[in-house]
Amino acid sequence: MVKPPAPRNMAKRVFSGVQPSGSLTIGNYLGALRNFAKLQYEADCLFCVVDLHALTVPQDPKELHQRTLDVARIFVASGIDPNRATIFVQSHVPAHSELSWLLECTTYDGELRRMTQYKDKASRQEVVTSGLLTYPVLMAADILLYQSDEVPVGDDQKQHLELARDIAVRVNNRFDEEIFKVPKPYIPPRAAGGRIMNLQDPYEKMSKSTENPRGNIGILDSPDEIRKKIRSAVTDSGREIYYDEENKAAVSNLMVIYSLCSGQSLDEIQSNYADSGYGDFKKDLAEVVVETLTPIQKRFAELSEPGVIEAILAEGRKKAEPLALPTLNRFRDRLGLLTHS
Ligand code: TYM
Repeated sequence: MVKPPAPRNMAKRVFSGVQPSGSLTIGNYLGALRNFAKLQYEADCLFCVVDLHALTVPQDPKELHQRTLDVARIFVASGIDPNRATIFVQSHVPAHSELSWLLECTTYDGELRRMTQYKDKASRQEVVTSGLLTYPVLMAADILLYQSDEVPVGDDQKQHLELARDIAVRVNNRFDEEIFKVPKPYIPPRAAGGRIMNLQDPYEKMSKSTENPRGNIGILDSPDEIRKKIRSAVTDSGREIYYDEENKAAVSNLMVIYSLCSGQSLDEIQSNYADSGYGDFKKDLAEVVVETLTPIQKRFAELSEPGVIEAILAEGRKKAEPLALPTLNRFRDRLGLLTHS
């Protein structure tokens, strides 16, 4: 059944972003993108390729350019309809950077230094830019600029979202007025894809920027690559297949991927494989993953025709900017900045 297009005045506003900082993984898809596609039917959604966020670590300019287009293509290929949701590039709406600066001046240095992602990334970088530290403020700006009600993300973004909420509450209290909506996180539990783990290390999150890429399933990986990576995925001791995040971390992660790709519940999977070992389970898992990703890859290839995704992004910018400006201007005004004509 074809659902009617989402009217602009839908009650709920949803915002989320994805960084063009590496090859997108099935973790991005299961934790975030597939929920984006669902939410577009119930809310006015904005999905953003957050290119400015990617600059916090060194990027090859050509690759950044290509990846920005590719992330937008993956948005559409995973089911986001550009006629229903707004798809755009963060740096095309300069209000994000401007609001980020204004919010930096209401955020404390200590709050940013406490962020676990900052501590983790900073400890691994030779050069730590101040952008890496202030990154969560830019993320808060992305969200607050659009008066977002809900933000669908994986559970690694939870702390950043809490900061965005704290900043919104602080500003609202200061001016005794709702300048910003206080956004709610939309984070699936682990068993529903909130944190997909690396196939080579079930205690490390699957990540675009991992040092362990053999443990990532890329959204654009070929069927053979997917089969190979799943075949060599680490497993736990004992042959049994059941869900137990603590004692069966590797198998539990594979079961979550299986469940989300096939639509079968974790219980069904457990009983289907009660009498088989890891070999059969992994073979079937590879096929359900290939079946899930193949249609996305086909649509992605169709979108590679020059000009197609660029036109979608140009349209997206035109829709996003007028939504952002009233909030920015109101905040500028309350801060005492002069209005310009
Ligand atoms: P990013 O680009 O690292 O990831 C994009 C989305 O994918 C989710 N994700 C995962 N979910 C489950 N399992 C995993 N292994 C996994 N890896 C990544 C992320 O949680 C995210 O939802 N800071 C954000 C981008 C951002 C943003 C925003 C998000 C910038 N501004 C405003 C929401 C709202 C990031 O780096 O996501």
